[in-house]
Amino acid sequence: MKSSIRQGVKLLATGSAVPDLCISNDLISDIVDTSDEWIFNRTGIKERRISSSPTSLIDMAAKASMQALDKTQINTLDLDLIILATSTPNDLFGSASQLQAKIGASKAIAFDITAACSGFVIAMVTATQFIQNGSYANVLVVGADVLSKWTNWSDRRTCILFGDGAGAAILQSCSTVKNNILGFHLNTDGQKFDQLNISCEYSNFSDKCIYPGLRGNFKHITMHGKEVYKFAVSKVPQSIQSCLNSLNLSSESVDWLLLHQANNRILNAVASRLMIPAEKVISNLSKYGNTSAASIPLALNEALEDKKIKNGDLIVMSGFGAGLTWGTLIFRWYG
Ligand code: ACO
Repeated sequence: MKSSIRQGVKLLATGSAVPDLCISNDLISDIVDTSDEWIFNRTGIKERRISSSPTSLIDMAAKASMQALDKTQINTLDLDLIILATSTPNDLFGSASQLQAKIGASKAIAFDITAACSGFVIAMVTATQFIQNGSYANVLVVGADVLSKWTNWSDRRTCILFGDGAGAAILQSCSTVKNNILGFHLNTDGQKFDQLNISCEYSNFSDKCIYPGLRGNFKHITMHGKEVYKFAVSKVPQSIQSCLNSLNLSSESVDWLLLHQANNRILNAVASRLMIPAEKVISNLSKYGNTSAASIPLALNEALEDKKIKNGDLIVMSGFGAGLTWGTLIFRWYG
């Protein structure tokens, strides 16, 4: 989809935060019938961080946001817009406003985006539209999730995968010459929503009520692992290739492949289908597991802090997951 572009977009800085509590595969083996060997061989995960506080989503999101802001000249009162990508809000009406209050960004409009593991990419694309059309100049994009709170800790097929975390990025308008968000490609297949979901269960309640009503309660994560795996390794390379084609770029020109950190086997399969060498794949999921909307900014921030990503590098960012949704954003890093 083409939009009228008045301004370029610059990715200025990133930040991230994870809980202190580290749960190893061995510890999970004490809870369910699994092993470090099984988990590591099938996923690449060694450990994950788990939060125990009810306010951890906002606390982590705020910490990641302040870390990113501290690397720029922008202060919280300069922010025009905050987009929080999360599927695990601590309020069903959305958590972005709590983040706005926590960091004191009182002039910013704030809202949530719910798109599971594609959330950060979709939030970045959304922020880009607001900047490119001239509506806003300084935007904070956060991906944060606490899937541990929605995990069934007796289901070994899912509880081994997820961890909690937050990552943030600051986007700013700039002259189109310096624009470093180059293009995007987004998709949804709602027919397959039940391959990975946290569904709402309704029960009747009529006590002390003038009409028979329904009360909602969210259940645990359920996932058809093999189907999700097949979806990711087929659709994500197609999305990346389409996005590269739309920009007249080849996969050889990619410096870094930054995928949602779901499973090392998915990361490697996507890279190999695109003929991108394994050394160009950013991976940190051995330490954090699948942190949903946080995984991409967490990995990006780490790669920038480790100075892996250099000035002018071309980065392909791709998220995929529940919905089913998937999407790619291609940008050039100018630190
Ligand atoms: N430990 C030991 N054995 C296990 C475990 C475990 N934790 N989990 C499953 N098994 C067993 C199964 O019971 C099965 O045994 P059986 O053959 O006797 O029936 C066997 O291992 C194989 O199970 P599969 O489910 O077929 O295992 P698979 O090779 O598909 O690996 C996995 C499972 C890792 C989940 C894989 O399917 C996968 O990575 N899928 C993608 C998941 C994903 O990325 N999800 C996140 C998307 S992002 C988002 O939106 C949240």
